[in-house]
Amino acid sequence: MSSFPQYRPRRLRRTAALRNLVRETHLAPAQLVLPVFVRDGRRLRQPVGSMPGVNQTSVDEMLRDAESAAKAGVGGIILFGVPETKDATGSSAWDEKGAVQTAVRALKKEIPDLVVITDVCMCEYTDHGHCGVLKDGEVDNDATLELLSRAALSHAQAGADIVAPSDMMDGRVRAIRSALDAEGYSSTSILSYAAKYASAYYGPFREAAESAPQTGDRRGYQMDPGNAEEALREVRSDIEEGADAVMVKPAGPYLDIVARVKAETGYPVAAYQVSGEFAMICAAADRGWIDRERVMLESLLGIRRAGADFIVTYFATEAAGRL
Ligand code: PBG
Ligand code: ZN
Repeated sequence: MSSFPQYRPRRLRRTAALRNLVRETHLAPAQLVLPVFVRDGRRLRQPVGSMPGVNQTSVDEMLRDAESAAKAGVGGIILFGVPETKDATGSSAWDEKGAVQTAVRALKKEIPDLVVITDVCMCEYTDHGHCGVLKDGEVDNDATLELLSRAALSHAQAGADIVAPSDMMDGRVRAIRSALDAEGYSSTSILSYAAKYASAYYGPFREAAESAPQTGDRRGYQMDPGNAEEALREVRSDIEEGADAVMVKPAGPYLDIVARVKAETGYPVAAYQVSGEFAMICAAADRGWIDRERVMLESLLGIRRAGADFIVTYFATEAAGRL
C-alpha cells in the first residue's frame, strides 16, 4: 500500500457526491424492524414512561403505527404481548384470541407485505416474570420447551411469517421447528435470539412489557456479558437446530459479536438495538447534549457496518422517514 503523499484519503471526502460514491455501508428502511407492545381492548394507547414515543396499544391502534411504519418503508414489525391475566405457566401465551395472535391476523389482512415477526417467550405471561416455568426456584429448561412450542405454533397458525424465541432455553429452536413442521407450518421461519446477553439495557422494556422478574434475575439462562466464544457456540447450535436467521442482543455494546457471527456463519444476522440503547439516545437528545437524528442514524449505520443484515429498533419508523 502506498502512503502519503501518493495516498490522500481526503480526496474522496471532498464532496457529498464523492463520499456517496465510495460509501461502504448503507442503511435502508427495509432493513429495519419495529417492536410493538399489544394488549387487549380498543382505542388504547398507553405511553411507556422510560421510552418516549413508545406505547402499549390495542390492536386497532397498533395497526395505525404499523401503517405509518409500512408507509415509511419499514421492513417488518415484531410483536410483544401484554396479557390481561398471568399465571405460573404463562398459559395465555398460546391463547388463539390473545392480543398477539389477533394482531398477527389483522396485520396479515391489512398490510400483507409487512413482515410479521412474533417474540416467543414466557416472561410477559408468567406471574413470576421468568422466561419459563419454575421448579425449585429455577427455570425448568425442558418443561419450558413444550410451552414455547405451543406459543410459537399459535403464532404460526395466526399467520406469522417469522417466530422469534427470546427465552434462551437450550434446545428451543429444535423443539419449535418440530412442533411447527408436525402441524404443517414448515414454511414459517425461525429467527433465534441466539446470543442474548443478561443485560441491564433491558430495563425500559420490562416496564413496557410488564415483564420484570419478581424474584432473582435472568443470569441463569441469558448469557454472561464477558463471553464471545460462547456466543458463537450458541449461534452454531441454533443453526444446527434449524434457525433460519440469528439475532444478537443488545446491539451497540455487542458489535464484536455481530461482526463475528456474520463472518463465521454467513447466516442472516439481526441485531436488536434494545430499549436501554434507545432510552439513552432519547434522554441525551432531550437535554440537548446530542443531536437526536444524527446519533440515531449513526448508531444504526454502525450496527449495519458491524455485519447486521437487519435491525430491530424503536427508531424504525423515525429512521426510515429520514432515509
Ligand atoms: C423477553 C424479551 C426481552 C427483550 C426482548 N424480549 C426482555 C428480557 O429478556 O428481559 C428486551 C428488549 C428490549 O430491551 O428492548 N425475553
Ligand atoms: Zn422472556
